[in-house]
Amino acid sequence: PVLVVDFGAQYAQLIARRVREAGVYSELVPHSVSKAEIEAKNPVAMILSGGPSSVYADGAPEFDASIFDLGIPTLGICYGFQVMAQALGGEVAQTGNREYGATDATVAGDGGVLLEGTPVDQNVWMSHGDSVVKAPDGYQVLASTAGTPVAAFGNADACFYGVQWHPEVKHSDYGQRIIENFLHKAAGLPADWNSGNVIEEQVARIREQVGSARVISALSGGVDSAVSTALVHRAVGDQLTAVFVDHGLLRQGEREQVEKDYVESTGVRLITVDAADTFLGHLAGVTDPEEKRKIIGREFIRAFEKVQRELVDEAKAEGEPIKFLVQGTLYPDVVESGGGAGTANIKSHHNVGGLPDDLDFELIEPLRTLFKDEVRAIGRELGIPEAIVGRQPFPGPGLGIRIIGEVTRERLEILRDADAIAREELTKAGLDGEIWQCPVVLLADVRSVGVQGDGRTYGHPIVLRPVSSEDAMTADWTRLPYDVLSKISNRITNEVREVNRVVLDVTSKPPGTIEWE
Ligand code: XMP
Repeated sequence: PVLVVDFGAQYAQLIARRVREAGVYSELVPHSVSKAEIEAKNPVAMILSGGPSSVYADGAPEFDASIFDLGIPTLGICYGFQVMAQALGGEVAQTGNREYGATDATVAGDGGVLLEGTPVDQNVWMSHGDSVVKAPDGYQVLASTAGTPVAAFGNADACFYGVQWHPEVKHSDYGQRIIENFLHKAAGLPADWNSGNVIEEQVARIREQVGSARVISALSGGVDSAVSTALVHRAVGDQLTAVFVDHGLLRQGEREQVEKDYVESTGVRLITVDAADTFLGHLAGVTDPEEKRKIIGREFIRAFEKVQRELVDEAKAEGEPIKFLVQGTLYPDVVESGGGAGTANIKSHHNVGGLPDDLDFELIEPLRTLFKDEVRAIGRELGIPEAIVGRQPFPGPGLGIRIIGEVTRERLEILRDADAIAREELTKAGLDGEIWQCPVVLLADVRSVGVQGDGRTYGHPIVLRPVSSEDAMTADWTRLPYDVLSKISNRITNEVREVNRVVLDVTSKPPGTIEWE
């Protein structure tokens, strides 16, 4: 793999993704990694990420400089660039010339293989206080800015390169080109990592792990569980049984999509548990968001355990016990829950599919090394319908946390209708690719006065919350075209009884979260 060394900024995951977008497999390691650990992973290249601190600050993240002696092709970014400069004999100083955000960089000389094919003047994204004031001996300065004499350097013989700016963010005009130059041209790595070989690799591995035992999987209707289940099915066929818990908090058409389209396209053996009555019973009278989440999570586990016991008994009677449970854990979940030490825990992970630890199963997690966009690509290749694979992230607790106030059947109906209209119009306008997700929220405990026909109405507002995001950790509200908003608003207020007002949420995250509860 290409190892991305994480110095504690949020950028490391993004770098790992960009490397994979370039067709090269990448993994994250913490900056505290030892030389022996690095050697054991046998990396083809290394990228040192940015970090929050100055190399001179107390508690600045350290890195074992003897790792450079291994001679692994290396690209340092921002803080990683400064760590490199310092370790290799250059000079880093607190010049007082801070640069934040869009900055003009000028390529020096031919820019070396790193900046090949990029213009002399380019717009780059900076975020640093200290600067490299002298490149190490034998290193060519490849770019500079008004405030930073050494904004990029390189040594072709050693295959060591560094840039002060962030090529992994889209605001750096030629960022991806620079990452690809490093990987393909400098380090000579082919672009041969793709979803096709992930499927082959995983299928072989799952077969080996499972043997002739039986497997159970919880389907939520979301992308991750749909793809992991289909992948395991590809590997072991009818040794797998998928369980879908309908908690009554799904959107319009979702159950049918899973029971019909998904089953038809994958051939997965599916059991649906009808649990809406139970869930709504337990949610009656509850308005506190955390309490709702807890109840939904608990009831999900109960429903799942009930079927599981029945299946286990049946399998035992037939002599092939159920030994394995499929989970759709993704790479960011692994990294966020401490897999990449040194990364700040920004948000604790909440997943209603998060089954209890005391379940007596071994886990199969075929998506553990993958990012969401890669999971989608694999799902498409497995033939899962676009309506499921292309689906926006939908929270495990479903519409239960999109009704502000008590969750009732009647309120669910109202929200489902409004949500279906919003989704339909967004798709019709071709905006699905631009939006990360668009929660539609019912302010069930708020009423507002309206006028329709000749009469006064006293109904509820619906909130549209369209957001753009790369990973849901941060988000901005999406600037949807006014005519699309107007169409959605008109249709909802005309077609959904009880709703007489549609409002737009124009808050970024932070400070707002994506969901309202
Ligand atoms: P927030 O609201 O925290 O959401 O900004 C970030 C992303 O996570 C989704 N989300 C959840 N997903 N179980 C899930 O599986 C949950 O309890 C849950 N809460 C929020 C949310 O839709 C967004 O994509």
